Amino acid sequence: MRKIIERATTRGYTVTSGALRLLEQAEAPLETLEEAMRRLEQSGLMIIDESLLMKLLGAKEGAQEPAVMAEKEEAVELLEELMIDVDERFLKEWRIQGTSEEFQRYFSSRYEKLSGLLRERLGSVVSLREAMRLRESQEANVIVMLLEKRETRKVWILRVDDPSGEHKIIVPKEPVLGDSPELLLPDMVFGARIMKSGDALIGRELILPDLAAEHLEKISINISACMISDIHAGSKHFREDLFESFLDWINRGRDPEAKDVKFLIIAGDLIDGAGVYPNQHKELEIFSVEEQLEKLSRFLSEIPEHVRIIIGPGNHDPVQRALPQPPLPEKYQKILKKSGKSFFFVGNPAWIKLAGRLFLIYHGQGLDDVIQHVISFSHSSLETDLGEALKLLLKCRHLCPIYGETTPIIPMPEDLLVIDRVPHIFHSGHVHAAYVGSYRGVRIVNSGTWQEQTSYQRSIGLEPTVGVMSLVNLGDLSIKFRKFA
Ligand SMILES: [Fe+2]
Repeated sequence: MRKIIERATTRGYTVTSGALRLLEQAEAPLETLEEAMRRLEQSGLMIIDESLLMKLLGAKEGAQEPAVMAEKEEAVELLEELMIDVDERFLKEWRIQGTSEEFQRYFSSRYEKLSGLLRERLGSVVSLREAMRLRESQEANVIVMLLEKRETRKVWILRVDDPSGEHKIIVPKEPVLGDSPELLLPDMVFGARIMKSGDALIGRELILPDLAAEHLEKISINISACMISDIHAGSKHFREDLFESFLDWINRGRDPEAKDVKFLIIAGDLIDGAGVYPNQHKELEIFSVEEQLEKLSRFLSEIPEHVRIIIGPGNHDPVQRALPQPPLPEKYQKILKKSGKSFFFVGNPAWIKLAGRLFLIYHGQGLDDVIQHVISFSHSSLETDLGEALKLLLKCRHLCPIYGETTPIIPMPEDLLVIDRVPHIFHSGHVHAAYVGSYRGVRIVNSGTWQEQTSYQRSIGLEPTVGVMSLVNLGDLSIKFRKFA
């Protein structure tokens, strides 16, 4: 297995765990791997997955069912340390027609996925239509999507709907049980304990899908992953000197912390891009996207051989802007590959497993809308608000809860922005402020930036955290934060 992984990774390919299991049972694993790489060479894809191997092996020896490798625990351990396992749904580019049915299907998916999570917490639930038929003062649970929220001196008025129809829930401004109405944002799906009162539904308790408290299992490995984002190579404000200090640190063979780094995760905004915002050219040192990537590639060529680089896109990178973003296009990947390093390109968001630890990697575009909509949050006080904004995403179990604001979302058949699993590590970026914390067992990291304050950031009072990286030990999930000078 080590040979398979080594041979694939040195050529820039990634083998998924399903594919590896199939290869392991193939008569000639390395030959089959070579054949898979040959096939992929023509397509430009870099991931060897189960479906490709099923095709190959099926053609050679008839489709084989993967058997369980129970007796090979030692080998599996070794494999888990080395390999990257990825949710392949996030690697594709979604295409839509823009019909109303597509939007309807998207919001139905969002509602169904989140109401599935809420049902686990609420138990019995009635529809809004059924709620209106309750007896006076009778209580019940409903699961609804927020259409609009208004506030008067004494109450919150929540206009909500579910598949049975639309109604208002009146929430008195006396202390409410559960989550605060202030945290509810348009298009969020939440539960409510309601009481029928005349023609109205009175909200007694509001319940976001949230996370259950997780038990953290330590594993005995000494491997760590380094998390950064928002490099913005090509910008006049890119702090090359600090990035050089980081490269200098990661190459220190005698530093035990640097030596244990096996993965470098870059959560988007690799470069500053071009035409991302009005008058951007005034703040660019390099105008072409290709040359910006060339510059980054020269920096990344200094990453040591034993570190695999995982790259997701951000809103400044040359890829479709709407979420979920596919991985960087092949023509741009090629520029980075000139560095001769081992890359693994993922979409945004991305769910990947490294050494058995589940990462949710998200550039963080939806944070802007959340920070703007929650009255108590502001871009000028991110040192206190960023952690709360990131926790709110986990509590509402959605990466971009508000539809139709500054972050475009593709109305895909399944809402892939629902946080439907519980990650070990939630890594985000985009707002250029650093944060390290945890919520119900999930380690949360916002990895700051390598770009000095821009004129736009100055105008909104945003103070970036420049030249930082976070280091997570994949054994005990402890996180260290390091600022370079
Ligand atoms: Fe950025």
